[in-house]
Amino acid sequence: MDYTKFFAKVTSRRRSNFIRKIFEVQSLVKDPIILAGGLPNTATFPIKDLSVTYEDGISLNLTKSELDTALQYMPSQGYKPLLEKWREFQKTWHTPQRKDWDVAFTSGAMDACSKVFEMIIDEDEPIMLQIPTYVGITGALRSLQPDIIEISQDADGIIPEQIVKECEQRRMNNKQMPKLLYVNPTGANPTGTILSENRRRKIYELAQKYNFLIVEDDPYCFVHFLNKQPTSFFSLDTDGRVIRLDTFSKFISSGLRMGIVTAHKNIVDKIVIHMENSSLHSPAISQVLIYKLFEIWEPHRFEEHFKNIQRFYRERRDAMLASAKKYLTGLAEWNVPQGGMFLWLKITATDNTMDLVTNKCLLNGVFVLPGNIFYYDTEKLTSYLRLSYSYASSEEMDKGLSIMADIIREEIAKKVK
Ligand SMILES: Cc1ncc(COP(=O)(O)O)c(C=O)c1O
Repeated sequence: MDYTKFFAKVTSRRRSNFIRKIFEVQSLVKDPIILAGGLPNTATFPIKDLSVTYEDGISLNLTKSELDTALQYMPSQGYKPLLEKWREFQKTWHTPQRKDWDVAFTSGAMDACSKVFEMIIDEDEPIMLQIPTYVGITGALRSLQPDIIEISQDADGIIPEQIVKECEQRRMNNKQMPKLLYVNPTGANPTGTILSENRRRKIYELAQKYNFLIVEDDPYCFVHFLNKQPTSFFSLDTDGRVIRLDTFSKFISSGLRMGIVTAHKNIVDKIVIHMENSSLHSPAISQVLIYKLFEIWEPHRFEEHFKNIQRFYRERRDAMLASAKKYLTGLAEWNVPQGGMFLWLKITATDNTMDLVTNKCLLNGVFVLPGNIFYYDTEKLTSYLRLSYSYASSEEMDKGLSIMADIIREEIAKKVK
C-alpha cells in the first residue's frame, strides 16, 4: 500500500534523530567505544540493586548488565529482546497474513493512539470514530480538529451499515473520503460491547472498498467473557491497512506505562521517528521487567493468566449486574457487558446525567461518570452513566447502586411534584 496519501503534513516534516540512530547501531555492536551520545554513567545513579517477585513466587535480582539496561536510555523502538518476544506473541495470538509488519513500544496505548492520530490527521480531514468512546481518544482528536464522522454501536458493536451510508454519501457528493476508522472492538469503553465476528469481516471489506485505515485500539483484548478469543482486525489484514494498538496496562501493570503499535513497517517507522523527537522511548525499566516475565512464562502461562483475569472480571461484572437488577430495575436499562470493565447504564428518568453525577452522586460519595463525556460533543446531555466494576468490592458496588437508586427516585419524585 502507498501510505503517503494517508500521512498528515506534520509526518512528512519529521526527521530521524541522528543521535538515536547511532545509539541503535551501537546497541548492536560488541564492545563499542562510546564517545557519541550523552549517556549518563549509571555508576553515578543511586539505584544499586533491583529485585522483583513475580506471581508463582518466582523472585529474581536483575544482573548488573540488566540493571544498567533498565536505568539507561534505550533504542526508540524498544528493548530488542522484548521486541522479539512480542513479535512472537503477536504471531501466536493473531497469525498475521503478511510478513512486512513490525512492532514498537510506546508509553501506553493512549500514547500510541495520539501518535497515530497525529501521523494521519490534518485539520478538517474526515475520520470515522466509534461512538461513544474513551475520553482520552476524543481528547487526543479534538486538538487535531478533524471532521468527525460518528459511527454508533448496538449490542454487537459498531454498525457497518452506517459506514456504508457515510462513505456512499461522501462519494456521491465528491467529498474527501475518511482516512481512518477508530475502533475499540473488544469490551469497548464505555459500552462493554464486542464487535461480532461477522461485522469485523464486513468492516474490513468496507475498509478495502472505501480505502481507509483501521486503527484497532484493543486494550481489553484479553478481558472478555466469550468462549473464544475474538478475531482481530490485524489477523484479517491482507493489505497492511490495520494499525493495531495493544497495552500491558490491563494484564501486567498500568503503572509501567507500556503500549505496543503493531502495523506495516512504514507506519511503525513513522511512530519511531515521532518518539525519537518526543519521548525518546518508553520506560526502559518497564521493558526489562516485562521481558523478564516473558522469559519466565511459557506462552501457555500467559493463556492461563488471561483465563484468570477473565474469571476475575466476569465475577465482578456479575456482582454489579446482580446489584443493578436488585436496585435499578424500572429505573435504568442496560446491555450485559461482554468484555472490558464497564456497565453502560441508561437512566430512563433523566437526560442530564451530568447534573445527577456532579450534584448528587459525588456528594453522596458514589463516583460514577456521566455519559456525555464519552461523546465528541461533550455539551450534548445524555441519559447514560458509566460504572466500572473493575475495582470496587461486591459490597461496595451493592451499596453504591442502592444509593444511586435512592437518588434517581428523588429525581423522579421532584419531577412529579
Ligand atoms: C479504549 C482505551 N484505549 C486506550 C486506553 C489507554 O490505555 P493505556 O493505559 O495503555 O494508555 C484505555 C484505558 O482505559 C482505553 O479504555
